[in-house]
Order: sequence, then structure tokens, then C-alpha cells
Amino acid sequence: MPRGLGPGLTRASHIAMHLPGKYKLLNEIMVKKNMGKIRVLDLFCGAGGFSLGFKKQGFSITGVDINPWSEKIFSLNHIGDFVQKDLMSEHIDGNFNIILGGPPCRPFSSVNLRRRGEKHPNYPLVERYFDHISSLRPDLFFMENVPPVRNYQIFLDSVKRIEDEGYHVESHVIHYSEFGASTKRRRLIVFGGKDKKLVEKIIRIFNKRKAEPKTVGDAIKKYEGTPEKGYPDHEWPHLKTIHKYKDKYESGQYGWYKLNYSQPAPSFGNIMKTYILHPNSDNNGTPARVISVREAMAIMGFSPEFHFPEKMGIGLRYQMVVDVVSPTISEIIADVVKECYVR
Ligand SMILES: C[S@@+](CC[C@H](N)C(=O)[O-])C[C@H]1O[C@@H](n2cnc3c(N)ncnc32)[C@H](O)[C@@H]1O
Repeated sequence: MPRGLGPGLTRASHIAMHLPGKYKLLNEIMVKKNMGKIRVLDLFCGAGGFSLGFKKQGFSITGVDINPWSEKIFSLNHIGDFVQKDLMSEHIDGNFNIILGGPPCRPFSSVNLRRRGEKHPNYPLVERYFDHISSLRPDLFFMENVPPVRNYQIFLDSVKRIEDEGYHVESHVIHYSEFGASTKRRRLIVFGGKDKKLVEKIIRIFNKRKAEPKTVGDAIKKYEGTPEKGYPDHEWPHLKTIHKYKDKYESGQYGWYKLNYSQPAPSFGNIMKTYILHPNSDNNGTPARVISVREAMAIMGFSPEFHFPEKMGIGLRYQMVVDVVSPTISEIIADVVKECYVR
């Protein structure tokens, strides 16, 4: 099979893409038809941020997570199949062309001062991700995590093992805002695959997709004037202590901020703990408030159609939103994969 040709694609479609006019159109139709045959496994899928971009590009998705809410989210938003598993002890089988994954980053996060590294119970999960690459042998894989993961032996050993097994692996640190997102969040993306030239091509084209950042205003102005609960997930906790901590969010200390409409948002954590204030909060008679779940979703790159299941607690929704791989970024990766691997 020619390099870069997805497994579901016929030789006819490969030949057609070198032909002009109507044959090109024929190829487009064939690629579209075959996209759904390219199987993508998303380990630690959470709210589906990583999956969503691939879903939008037409790939067939299976998500795995320990959290039963992920199943409801996958079904409600028609993302794909879902398997609930504890990946610490259980393993996934099957044929997958591409594996995505965002193992929990708290063991490696610099804001986690108390239980970092081996002391954190989720420390082994990053290795469990690579165990799946080893056993399922996808053509391509992509992993997202915080940049400090690169300094931990468990990550370095896992990458070395995969390289010894024939994979080419490259890690790149990006700011989401460099790729047109409304958040400056900084993350490590690991690109891997059996074919070194294909991985290098994907990274080259991915880097060409850099775009001007969107601002907080671009993401959330459309909800201005919408009353609380006037749109799904447009709700926020009414925190009694909001005035008490004014000095914290005004100084931006400890990750507490008041957002600015004309800039991308700084990276933020769970809004229940860090009080990320709406740009109009406490201005000209507007009451002080934190951003709603919907506004946090919009800043991370979720489309207005995506919504959480009813009855899901607000704290959990905020947490899942801040844990996601931005769908803005996953869509770019998926589009580049489609261009380099499927065609
Ligand atoms: C950083 S979040 C992943 C976010 C996801 N990639 C997204 O874009 O929405 C990490 C996920 O790992 C899951 N997780 C934690 N421990 C797990 C375990 N033992 N087995 C399976 N999933 C686990 C959490 O429930 C959480 O959804």
C-alpha cells in the first residue's frame, strides 16, 4: 500500500488524485466515503475535546475514560463510540489507525506542589498510554500533556521504548493562541508514527496552520446580555466570597484573573477554585461574577452546539472544560492528518 494511503482507500482513489478535473472530484468523494473507515481511539477522552476535531473531519471515533459522564457526553454530542475502562489496570484491544490521548497531567503540572511525580496516583497513566501504542501499533499517534512531562523519567523511558519498537516520535510545545484559539494555554503535543517522513510532513504542515489569536471577546461576546440559563451551560456559581478576593484577581496572582475582551485568555484552572472573572464583572453597576461554563467552553474552542448532559454538576463541568485539548487545535491536527495520511 502506498505510504500515506489510509487502509480503507482503494488504489483507484490514489490514482484518481493525480488526475485533473472530474477525477479529482471523484477522488474527493472517495476520500469522504472512506474517512469513516479510519478508526481513531481516544484514550482518556474526558469531554471529547481531542476527539471533536477528528469527528468533525469525518473520522470514526472510540473514546475511553474511567468517568461515566464521558459516555453521556459522547452520546449526546454524537462524537462516537465509548468504552468505560480503568486504564490503570485494563487494556483496550482492536484495530485502530490513529491513537489520541491526554493522560491526566496533574502529576506533572508545576502548579501541583503537593503530590507531584511518582507521589501522584495517576503518575503511571502516561506509561499506560504508550503501552497501548506498543500493543495496538497504530500508524499515527498524538498525545497532549503539560510541558514539564518531558522532564520525567516515565515519559522519557516510554518514548525510548516506542522508538526502539520502530516509531518516530517528536514533542513540540505550543501556545493554543498561536493556532487561532482564544486561550494562551501552553501545551506539549507528541507526534508519533511508524513512518518518519509522514510524521515530519504532518508537523511541517501543522506549523504552517499558525493563525492570529482570537480574543476573549471573539469567543464570548455573543453571550453578552444572555441571562443566566438562557443558553445551555450558560450558568455560574454565585460565590459569596467574590469581593473578599478582589486583590487576588486584580493582581492576576495565583492564577486568578479578570479577563480582558481584547486579548486571548491566560491559561486558567477550575473556575470554582480560581475565580476567573467575566470582563464586565463589577463594571458600571454590572454585578461581580465568574465566567459561565458556556463562556469557559467558548474560550477553549467548543462550538455553541456542544452541550453537557442535564444534571451534571457545575464543578464537574468546569473541570472537564479546563482539562480538554482545545477542539480548535484538534481540528487542525485532524485536518492535517486527513491531508497527509488519507489522501
Ligand atoms: C486531561 S483529561 C483528558 C481530556 C480529554 N483529552 C479532552 O480533550 O477532553 C484526563 C482524563 O483522564 C481520565 N482518567 C483519569 N484516570 C483514569 C483511569 N484510571 N482510567 C481511564 N481514564 C482515566 C479522567 O477521567 C479525565 O477525563
